[in-house]
Amino acid sequence: MGASCELREIRTEEERQMWRGSVHYAFALDQAYDEWLKQHERSASDEMEIKWGYFSDNTLLASASHIPYQAPVRGALLPMAGVSNVGTPPEYRRQGHAEDILRSLMKVLRERGMVLTCLWPFSRRFYRRYGWGNAAEYSTYALTMPDLRQVTRGYSGSRRFSRLSLDDVEAMAAVRRDYLADYDLAPIRPWDWWRCRVFWDWQQWAHVYGIWDDEGVLSGYLAYVVKDHGDWQRELRVTDIAYRDLAAYRGLLSFLQTHDSQVREMKISLFASDPLFDWLSGGKIHRQAGAMIRLLDVKSALESLAYPETIELTMNLEVLDDFVAAGGCFKLEVAEGKARVQSTDATPEARMPIGAFSQLLTGCRSLDALIRTGRVDIDVSNVRILNQLRALFPPRQVGMMDHF
Ligand SMILES: CC(C)(COP(=O)(O)OP(=O)(O)OC[C@H]1O[C@@H](n2cnc3c(N)ncnc32)[C@H](O)[C@@H]1OP(=O)(O)O)[C@@H](O)C(=O)NCCC(=O)NCCS
Repeated sequence: MGASCELREIRTEEERQMWRGSVHYAFALDQAYDEWLKQHERSASDEMEIKWGYFSDNTLLASASHIPYQAPVRGALLPMAGVSNVGTPPEYRRQGHAEDILRSLMKVLRERGMVLTCLWPFSRRFYRRYGWGNAAEYSTYALTMPDLRQVTRGYSGSRRFSRLSLDDVEAMAAVRRDYLADYDLAPIRPWDWWRCRVFWDWQQWAHVYGIWDDEGVLSGYLAYVVKDHGDWQRELRVTDIAYRDLAAYRGLLSFLQTHDSQVREMKISLFASDPLFDWLSGGKIHRQAGAMIRLLDVKSALESLAYPETIELTMNLEVLDDFVAAGGCFKLEVAEGKARVQSTDATPEARMPIGAFSQLLTGCRSLDALIRTGRVDIDVSNVRILNQLRALFPPRQVGMMDHF
């Protein structure tokens, strides 16, 4: 960080204007500023996020923001930060300011108690060098209405659909909890998140519909927007979906299929393991790398997790982080479902960079996958340590699809 440069939370109207100018240029270069501002101010981007500027005196050199939230990791709820709006005005690029704001912001987030960050990268290489690792893949399906028809043909379940409003958020959140029961890292959405990111989708209000079972319980919902490309070429894009069982899922898909008179194509992004993959025989499926994650505090993260009661172990583990010193060399003791972590000078039995450890701890990658890609320094003949690490950190399904 330069001598007179500092990270500041955006507070004054003058700072806000500079910040918005930088973010508009960085992310909406092709849109008129006034129009963008109107949309931006209605979105969660403006209401939920905490904005940051990296300043030299009164000049904004880089922008960023974060949304604090909690997400499940191996049965614990970890305090996380969703980082976005990392941008540098063009006249100050390639002078290290994005790196500076990221480094300063990560330290401040750690001071505020956050142990993990998540972001949607413009470049994986850029964030990997600062310690972020890939979380999970997802698939985007582009389907024509006949493609969808082939999946929904013969559906004979509930047709009790209704438009949902913000009054239904509690019921929707309950459906989502069931839908994500086996997945980690999805944000626990506060009410504002539902309002600003589900009902309002960045630039427009979404259509939100639910399907009800025979007992009158909400069994699934979806949110979608329709884009008109002109000349009656409309595309329906599903922006959120959750369901309790496959019958409700088929019901929701059949509801979408009834739009065949209005739209040509629909797009939906789903976890890589979604059953739609096996149901379809047409359509285009695009597999994409998703969000990236990074630990901010290895010791607290290790101590926050719940471990199987059957595990009892002691090992020395080193996590390398020369960007914000979130790692260190630790003696890790696990007993009765809890971890005790102390700094040590002892020789580590396993050593890895923070990005790889972030993936291991959250279950985004198995130990063996990390070893295969050469990201763990470990004696592979030491079966005790290999098995202990495998038992501590088995891979988990990751359900992170929320954008910020
Ligand atoms: C991406 C962006 C934030 C980089 O800002 P910057 O201040 O120029 O970045 P820095 O000078 O701190 O660059 C740090 C390192 O990343 C590299 N880098 C910068 N831009 C890069 C890019 N577009 N692709 C790959 N690497 C890049 C730099 O070369 C530098 O590496 P070096 O030290 O080896 O030379 C800026 O170009 C921007 O605002 N872009 C538009 C918005 C955007 O895409 N933001 C990212 C959202 S996830």
